[in-house]
Amino acid sequence: IVPRTIPALWQAKRRKQPITMLTAYDASFARAADEAGIDVLLVGDSLGMVVQGQRDTLSVTLDDMVYHTQLVRRGAPGRLIMADMPFLSDSTVAQALASAGRLLQEGGADLVKIEGGEAKAPIIRALTDAGIPVCAHVGLLPQHVRQLGGYRVQGRDAEDAARILHDAEVLVEAGAVMVLVECVPGPLGTRLATALETPVIGIGAGNGVDGQVLVLHDLLGLNDHPPRFVRDFLRGRGSIGQALTAYVAAVRDRSFPAEHEGYI
Ligand code: KIV
Ligand code: NA
Repeated sequence: IVPRTIPALWQAKRRKQPITMLTAYDASFARAADEAGIDVLLVGDSLGMVVQGQRDTLSVTLDDMVYHTQLVRRGAPGRLIMADMPFLSDSTVAQALASAGRLLQEGGADLVKIEGGEAKAPIIRALTDAGIPVCAHVGLLPQHVRQLGGYRVQGRDAEDAARILHDAEVLVEAGAVMVLVECVPGPLGTRLATALETPVIGIGAGNGVDGQVLVLHDLLGLNDHPPRFVRDFLRGRGSIGQALTAYVAAVRDRSFPAEHEGYI
């Protein structure tokens, strides 16, 4: 099956079929990803870095997100599209409803992704009650980079791992239909996927999760200092289409990520 609805993603998890996700920011790459059979396109606020050339994601605006979601929707009209709620666009329930509303109504997204832990539960509850599906982003939170002082692995000690697991459980309880976990040890990724009925998509979270996501530019070898969970799928291949198809195949047969492409 090619899951194009959220229930189809849940079904994929139950059938143990790994879910493929990739970021996209424009129509041409959205079309290429669609043709390669990527299950979910993520209009990530990583666009601040890979498209806009900023050093982090904090400067990305809701207008930026709406615009790029429109472009991606045009390139992949039939594909499930998730849009990031940018920094400070979801600080209150009212603001989050307005922001997510624009991403769905103007941008054409199917669901939104919210970074944060337990504190985001009331917001996820309100969006869910309004009919807006939400993915909860836990683990490494790039929007918290000023507090963290950099991008590094999260959940390494038992206490932090338990907190991340607890956050995910609370956010799913609040209505999150999907969980994305970034940059945690593989065993913690596996624990999350096992504990939750909700599909858990990982980036730098090992091979025991229900699906994988990568940043498009990383997959195409455009990152000069790639984190260890990045694989350059264009290397040794003749076209972007082949690189995307290879990524889909490697996620589906669980040959990506390999052991060394993760954290312990
Ligand atoms: O913005 C983004 O690309 C993301 C992924 C790293 C998951 O949130
Ligand atoms: Na993001």
